[in-house]
Amino acid sequence: MIDRINDLLKRVEEFSPKAAAEIEEFRIKILGKKGELNALMEEFKTVAPERKREIGQRINALKVAAQERINALKAAAQQAAENSAATVGDMTRPGSEEPLGTRHPISLVRNQIVEIFSRMGYTVAEGPEIEDDWHVFSALNFPPEHPARDMQDTFFIEKNPDILLRTHTSSIQVRAMERSKPPIRIVCPGRVFRNEAISYRAHCIFHQVEGLYIDEGVSFADLKQSLLYFAKEMFGENASIRLRPSYFPFTEPSAEMDVSCNLCGGKGCNVCKGTGWLEIMGCGMVDPNVLEANGIDSKKYSGFAFGMGVERIAMLKYGVKDLRLYFENDVRFLRQFESVL
Ligand code: DAH
Repeated sequence: MIDRINDLLKRVEEFSPKAAAEIEEFRIKILGKKGELNALMEEFKTVAPERKREIGQRINALKVAAQERINALKAAAQQAAENSAATVGDMTRPGSEEPLGTRHPISLVRNQIVEIFSRMGYTVAEGPEIEDDWHVFSALNFPPEHPARDMQDTFFIEKNPDILLRTHTSSIQVRAMERSKPPIRIVCPGRVFRNEAISYRAHCIFHQVEGLYIDEGVSFADLKQSLLYFAKEMFGENASIRLRPSYFPFTEPSAEMDVSCNLCGGKGCNVCKGTGWLEIMGCGMVDPNVLEANGIDSKKYSGFAFGMGVERIAMLKYGVKDLRLYFENDVRFLRQFESVL
C-alpha cells in the first residue's frame, strides 16, 4: 500500500496539465468521491492496527499535497487566462453593438435645401462669420442709420472700422459678386448671429441659406417659379406658395414668401395660427444699387435673391415647436432624425 501511496504522490507532483480543463478532471480523479484517494481510505480500513498510524499519516500528507498542487495549478491557469484576455480579448465573444450616430436635424435640412437648389444649377458659396460693415450692410444698400446696425441687434467685435458677427448670410452674396462675373447662381448656407433674447422662437445663433441668381433677363417670374419648385420639393407636391409685398434694403421689389401649412393642409391650425400659411423666407429682385455697388452693370444684368432660416424650416417640417431643442443636443431628441443626406 505504501507503494501505491508513493506512486500517487509522484503523479500528483509531476502532473502538468496542457489545458486548464485537465486540472479539474485530475482533481475529480484523485480527490473526488469515487477518486483514488477515497479508494485508498477504503483500503485503509483493512490495514493492520500497528501500521495504521504510519499509513494514515502518509495518506493525509498525500491528500494535503494533492489539494495544494491542484490549487496552485488552478490559480496559475486563471492568471494566464486573465493576462491573455487583457491583451487579445476573447475572440469568441459576440461583438458589442456600436450605435451609429445620426446627422443633426439642422444639418439634414440644410443639406436638403442645398441639394434641391443644386438640382436647379446652383453651386455652394461660403463666407466668413466675422465680417466687416461693408459686406454685411453697406454693400447691401443699408443706409447709415438703419436699425440693424445698432448695438442692440448686432454683435460688434470692434467699432470704427466696424468688425462684427454677420447677422445674415446675404454678406456672402457680396463676396460672390466681388469674386465672379455674371452669370452667378449660388446658394450660401451658414451660421448667423443676432443679439436676441433666447426663447422658444428665437436664438442668438441660427442658420440661414441665402440664394442669388444674376444673369441677363432674370425676372420676378423666374424667382416665383424657382421658389415654387423648392417649396414642392421640400414640403411635398401639394405645397403652394404666396408672395406678400415686403421691404429689404437690398431688393426691390421685395417679398415675403409663405408656404401652405403642411401640418393642417391649409385648413388652419395652431402652428399656422389659423391662417393656413407659414412664412418661410424673404426674397426679391436684387436692387440695382446693390449690383452697381458690387461692380455689376444693372442695365445689362438683373437678378433675384432669397434668404431663409434653416431652424424655421426644420421646425415646420418636423413639427418641432421649441427652437431651443436644436441647440441643446439632447440625444433623445437627436436620435429621432435619420437620413442618408
Ligand atoms: N437677409 C434677410 C434676413 O436675414 C433674408 C433675405 C431677404 C435675404 C430677402 C435675401 C432677400 O437675399 O432677398 O432676414
